[in-house]
Amino acid sequence: MQRLAPALRADNVNLDLISLIKTVLAATKEISFRVGQGALSGVMGSTLDENIQGEVQKELDVVANQLLKDILLESGFVKAISSEEEDTSVAGNQNGKYIVSFDPLDGSSNIEINSLIGTIFSIMEAPEGMDAADPDMFKQQGTKQVCAGYVLYGPATILAMTTGKGTHFYTLDKTHGSYMLTEKNVQISEDTSEFAVNMSNQRFWQQPMQNYIGDLVKGSDGPRERNFNMRWIAAMVGDVHRVLTRGGFFTYPADNKSPEKPYKLRLMYEANPMSFLVEQAGGLSVTSEGRIMEIEPTDIHQRVEVILGSKNEVEKCLSYYK
Ligand code: AHG
Ligand code: MN
Ligand code: MN
Repeated sequence: MQRLAPALRADNVNLDLISLIKTVLAATKEISFRVGQGALSGVMGSTLDENIQGEVQKELDVVANQLLKDILLESGFVKAISSEEEDTSVAGNQNGKYIVSFDPLDGSSNIEINSLIGTIFSIMEAPEGMDAADPDMFKQQGTKQVCAGYVLYGPATILAMTTGKGTHFYTLDKTHGSYMLTEKNVQISEDTSEFAVNMSNQRFWQQPMQNYIGDLVKGSDGPRERNFNMRWIAAMVGDVHRVLTRGGFFTYPADNKSPEKPYKLRLMYEANPMSFLVEQAGGLSVTSEGRIMEIEPTDIHQRVEVILGSKNEVEKCLSYYK
């Protein structure tokens, strides 16, 4: 079994980027340890604060954010970071080569029930000639990502990562603290009979999504003439991990539940990195209007519709919008 750094060198990833990836992962090892300690870690509760998006922060959201932020800004490799838990981007080294966006703790509502949670990250090159404090540096299309990944703190701590040469899984060996390459070139099956969506929002979706999911639910009695199974982990890291592992269809579609917030998932630190991983594994990741990684960002916290997974099923879903 190969360790992470030699595996990346074999893919010709440049040494600065490898060092940066190792820096991100150092923080995730610390988060993994604390998560594994459960209530004993003393950080499993709620804070009294809200983030800029009006969501109540859990202690673990704050701790994970601080760990990633400190280690990245001190590393020297990073010109700026942006995070779900930071109002705006935070400047690092003006000469740093990279910028990093992250969701320090994805699936916060799962913390208290001891269910799946994770960390999502996305790395891009820092544009030259811009001030490290300028958040506009982050307004680059997802196609510009040089690395994306998530760490899933499940029964095992698993890293899924791509540097544009396939999506690979690494497992944290907790006996010596190294991520080991455990599955190379993960491939998402083109077909699936499993879908993931929060069904409680059904009546708020646009008509094409209602029709598409409605036909899946009709199963062998409906136009699809076969039964579909449903799963919903309520943490994108968990749902995308299942899709990468055994195929599937995942969506957080547009809804009109609250008119000022038509989408749930965030482009920079949820949708873009997951899209890179999914596309590198042969799947599709789109909105009802086009490829997610080609969206021109307007805001570091912008939200977006997400439809991803097994190629043929994503295309089938899109056909309902035509
Ligand atoms: P976060 O915990 O970082 O705010 O993200 C939670 C997101 C995503 O991971 C998940 O797919 C979705 O919210 C779950 O939404 P519901 O609560 O509507 O199921
Ligand atoms: Mn999240
Ligand atoms: Mn989060």
